[in-house]
Amino acid sequence: MRRFVIDTDTGSDDAVALLMALREPSIKVEAITTVAGNCRLHYATANALASIDIASTYRPKLYEGMDRPLLREATRAEFVHGVNGMSDMELPHVAQAKEEMHAIDALIEYAKASDGDLELISLGPATNLAMAIRKDPIAMQRYQHLYMMMGTGNGPGNVTPTAEFNAFADPEALKIVLESSIPVTLIGWDASVNGCFLEHDYLLELKKLNNPISQFALNCNEALIQFNRDRFKLEGLDLPDPVAMAAVLYPEMITESGNYYAEVEVNSPLTYGTIATDFMNTLEKEPNVKIVFRINGDAFRNKLKALLTI
Ligand code: BDR
Ligand code: CA
Repeated sequence: MRRFVIDTDTGSDDAVALLMALREPSIKVEAITTVAGNCRLHYATANALASIDIASTYRPKLYEGMDRPLLREATRAEFVHGVNGMSDMELPHVAQAKEEMHAIDALIEYAKASDGDLELISLGPATNLAMAIRKDPIAMQRYQHLYMMMGTGNGPGNVTPTAEFNAFADPEALKIVLESSIPVTLIGWDASVNGCFLEHDYLLELKKLNNPISQFALNCNEALIQFNRDRFKLEGLDLPDPVAMAAVLYPEMITESGNYYAEVEVNSPLTYGTIATDFMNTLEKEPNVKIVFRINGDAFRNKLKALLTI
């Protein structure tokens, strides 16, 4: 059975990704670590604990991590996901508490305790991962693979013309990750809008499931639905973290991917946080990332619906 640690800045789409992972019976989530990003850290932690509760399967331990990026000022996505990251909905009371251990140490300890078979999924800024790599690079190399919802494949940025939110929120941390020798897959934000956008009719299908899990998944994303309506005149929802989760859990859904050498920009004000991918191999360097550009939208929608059904 595949086993995972998930690092998340739990906002509304992270919450759905957590529901998916926790409700997929063929895998096990060993631990969840939280990081500041979409929302402030304490909200991310509360949102992840609520997601564990709503998933109604089992309870991985939760470890809280970094409350700000390595160097830059915090940037949040409150206008996209609400101040609490969950469309400012009220969360259920949850008995589970976070663990005492810091997420950085937890990431290291879980790696050390594994047989090299543990996989790591990152759904937010790379701050916790970079700190753990700096603290114990050898232990962190024990992760079999690191999958990140990160960057924008070969498409435009979603916070600047060329940068995607997770990369933009802590590029210096991402640089440390890309320069480590952990095998990395980046699932770009563009995969969630090209082919995997959830149209109004599909959201109605989810609404008809009418159970606490589907209701939670929809209600926490109300702010994002409203953001798409106001900003893009689009009726529906893009779910970058669930699309990334699907690419990890169901690799057969991947329709377009490639191996490349990539670096993240940390200096230029205009392109700060942009992942520069050497598509033409102009630098003649060994690939350091696999990039997933597209997954099968129908397969994604069917699986998401199945996982939200009780
Ligand atoms: C990423 O940023 C956040 O808004 C989402 O949770 C996702 O991880 C998309 O750019
Ligand atoms: Ca996220």
